[in-house]
Amino acid sequence: MKKNILFDTFKINKTELRNRVGLAPMTRISATKDGYVTDKMVKYYRSFAKGGFGLIITEGTYIDDKNSQTYQYQPGIAFDGQAVVWKKIVDAVHEEGSKIFMQLQHSGPLSQGNHFSEETIAPSSVKPKGEQLKFYFGEGEYKIPREMTKEEMDNVKKSFVKAAQRAEAAGFNGIEIHGANGYLLDAFLTEYTNLRTDEYGGSTENRVRFLVEIASEVTKSVGDDFIVGMRISQSQVNDYTYKWSGEEEDAKIIFGSLGQSGLDYIHVTEYKAWQHAFDGGEKSLVSLAKKYSQLPIIANGQLDNIERATEMLSNGDADIVTLGKGALANHDWVKKVEKEEPLTVFNPDEVLYPVANIKDFEIN
Ligand SMILES: Cc1cc2nc3c(=O)[nH]c(=O)nc-3n(C[C@H](O)[C@H](O)[C@H](O)COP(=O)(O)O)c2cc1C
Repeated sequence: MKKNILFDTFKINKTELRNRVGLAPMTRISATKDGYVTDKMVKYYRSFAKGGFGLIITEGTYIDDKNSQTYQYQPGIAFDGQAVVWKKIVDAVHEEGSKIFMQLQHSGPLSQGNHFSEETIAPSSVKPKGEQLKFYFGEGEYKIPREMTKEEMDNVKKSFVKAAQRAEAAGFNGIEIHGANGYLLDAFLTEYTNLRTDEYGGSTENRVRFLVEIASEVTKSVGDDFIVGMRISQSQVNDYTYKWSGEEEDAKIIFGSLGQSGLDYIHVTEYKAWQHAFDGGEKSLVSLAKKYSQLPIIANGQLDNIERATEMLSNGDADIVTLGKGALANHDWVKKVEKEEPLTVFNPDEVLYPVANIKDFEIN
């Protein structure tokens, strides 16, 4: 029998992955109150590497001691001391033969637990839709954010750079800038949360500018072999059905300019990665990302569906797939699929409720 493409190696920049299946970034609020990695987290990440995932992308990690923290018990990489403890996870994952990228996150308007600051910041002072996430200790409506100054934007850029450098020093193979799901960078991209009248608001070119600037500053400030990617979505944690109003033209501008920014890859997440991105259209957001960025593409969204995952890789739309819930239910998903063993169905009640922290049964 021909080996499934899922198990082929893939090279991003100069780093070779042993297969094309990655763990999607997932916040599990299991760090200490002040954002240090715990032994529970070390065991948790090791188990996915042991289970065969060629690439591990960490949960969103906060980057500064100002407004970037999103959730209580979220890990940070705002200080050298935090980076040192992350090294335990890096070493565990490497020992099991996998590569690891850290996802760097700035919460922007969606912060619901920050022990450095009471206020939230955003491109404009627009109250986020929806309600805070209960399974991350949230309660009620989001705060009304304060509009960021240009100086604060510069500081955020510097914080992304410093966090990436700390991750590189801790031995990570790369970082992923969180540009998706409604957090700070995506709030710049989204029309109704970005009402700025300067060069960062208005047209799609202007709304993507901050993302491009961060990508190019970060890529210039780390070693050539250190991988820098960005995650992009239409949907947001507080607005699932949001779509880019300019449709394929927006995709062309967004992926086209990110493709020129020095990034090594783009990670696209959609509810079902293979579905058409826009009503009445035929192309998936993943295929549009490939077409307009010409970069390696990581695809996410119910790709524990083996047929769909195989199809996306085989037709060249994506180069790697990442799994979220399928991986939580099967830390050894890759090994099981390779051996054609039955997979466990994801049970949210068991894993995510009442709060989404790492449960003892997951790591034993
Ligand atoms: C518990 C949980 C935590 C998540 N945390 C993050 C996160 O920190 N960063 C991020 O980009 N996406 C996050 N996501 C989204 C996942 O990376 C992924 O996009 C989503 O689960 C869809 O993929 P799936 O269909 O394979 O589950 C999270 C999802 C879950 C279930």
